[in-house]
Amino acid sequence: MSSILVTGGAGYIGSHTVVELFRAGYNPVIIDNFSNSEKSVLKGIESITGERITLYTGDCNDADFVNYIFESDPEITGCIHFAAYKAVGESVEKPVEYYKNNINSLLVLLTSMMQFNIKNLVFSSSCTVYGQPDELPVTESSPVKKAESPYGNTKQICEEVIEDTVAAAGEIKAVSLRYFNPVGAHPSSQIGELPIGTPNNLVPFLTQTVAGIRKELVIFGDDYDTPDGTCVRDYIHVLDLAQAHVKALDYLDKKKNDSLYRVFNVGTGNGHTVLDVIKTFESVTGEKVNYRVGTRRAGDVEKVWANADKINKELNWKTQLTLKQALNDAWSWQKVLKNRGKQ
Ligand code: UD1
Repeated sequence: MSSILVTGGAGYIGSHTVVELFRAGYNPVIIDNFSNSEKSVLKGIESITGERITLYTGDCNDADFVNYIFESDPEITGCIHFAAYKAVGESVEKPVEYYKNNINSLLVLLTSMMQFNIKNLVFSSSCTVYGQPDELPVTESSPVKKAESPYGNTKQICEEVIEDTVAAAGEIKAVSLRYFNPVGAHPSSQIGELPIGTPNNLVPFLTQTVAGIRKELVIFGDDYDTPDGTCVRDYIHVLDLAQAHVKALDYLDKKKNDSLYRVFNVGTGNGHTVLDVIKTFESVTGEKVNYRVGTRRAGDVEKVWANADKINKELNWKTQLTLKQALNDAWSWQKVLKNRGKQ
């Protein structure tokens, strides 16, 4: 059974991917420094898979530590690199920390992969690289726009680093997955998003509002050029997104050529407004969302959704779950957290 190193494997998307890797017959190996995740996630993964997953607690900026893992586990054939800082606003305040952490950890990983002859890499990128696209839906050949934030810039730079490394080294095969908006939780309610402090993203803020933790949800503007005036995004169930990583690894495994770099959008192909999300949440859960319309948030794009044809065809991946299921799962997870006295 081939082992896959999952950096940031205790995080939101990482933990769901670990579960899907296991289900697909891979042996996931987690490295996490728990800077933005919790040890309890491991228990959740274990109760879904029935297995204890190997965990290395530490930082993937630490070259000796990463080398030690590859030395200790010669079965590792590939890596999925999630570990990164991800808060847009914080990246504007602490750009050096973001560049240092997000770029250096990739450099350390690539160096170590080359040293240990590990060929397959899946990188966690974002649709943020497109900014506000001129044409919708956005395809992989749409231009990459100047990043709105240091966070977004780290994703662009990392993609370039991987592309250059693949071209020069001729011995690494890599896929960058450009995620649209991941939402929801595992349907078992054993794992889900664990925002630290006040969430920035729509769905965790919404579920916390309904749970009574936040007073009200503020919609950031209703004067955009969209069907109801609120911004449009492509919301994808986190479990579907997790499966895309498994498909990407399968794809890399099958490609025998030494050098390969591909980029894929991972979205549903459907756009939903903020009001759609609120109304869908209300209809699927029967709960009322206390919301009001506020002013626009700086840096928000008006509308973006994916053309997912490339990943549909080339990786044989399609979304299976709907926005309704994602919101229902997000709400079930929020109730579990509340019962645990967490949030
Ligand atoms: C944001 C980042 C994106 C990053 C992603 C990571 C920006 C501009 N983009 O995406 O680069 O990859 O998070 O998770 O920050 N909304 C409200 N009220 C709220 C929260 C959000 O109306 O309290 C709206 C936003 O205006 C937006 C939509 O909900 O239209 C989704 O917002 P969010 O979940 O923060 O994701 P993005 O901004 O799309």
